[in-house]
Amino acid sequence: MALPETLVAEFDRMVQKYPERRSALIPAIHRCQEELGGWVSPETMEDLAAYFGLEPVDVYGVVTFYPMFRTKPPGKHVVSVCHNISCDLRGAEGILAKVCEVTGAKVGGTSADGKFTVERVECQGACANAPMFDLDGVYHEDLDDAKVAKILGGLQ
Ligand code: FES
Repeated sequence: MALPETLVAEFDRMVQKYPERRSALIPAIHRCQEELGGWVSPETMEDLAAYFGLEPVDVYGVVTFYPMFRTKPPGKHVVSVCHNISCDLRGAEGILAKVCEVTGAKVGGTSADGKFTVERVECQGACANAPMFDLDGVYHEDLDDAKVAKILGGLQ
């Protein structure tokens, strides 16, 4: 198994919290994505299947069902733009268009230079300060075009 020992130890603790071992699969996938480059590779899916006593296709089915899991390596920076109701009403589509313009990435894709991945996400719980995006795990709220350009334009 190629999973890091630290993750396996974490999973060993995690599975104790659930009546069935496989119930910890989704949090385990999250941890793999966080720790192993921001995506879930085919090898990681096989390792997770072995750990949980599942078939690799079972893990693949979960990974590909949920949009928060990536099956390709992301760019250096990940911009996750919320498009749910509060953000939509306050201009999320325009923000998304501006993000794509500034980064050179298409929605669901990565810029040619590998610097940015842009994705649509569901409500992030920051509706009071819509529209918003999550950039590499940090929320940016009350966005307008100028803020988007300032935030993303200065990134290396
Ligand atoms: S709708 Fe965008 S944060 Fe809730």
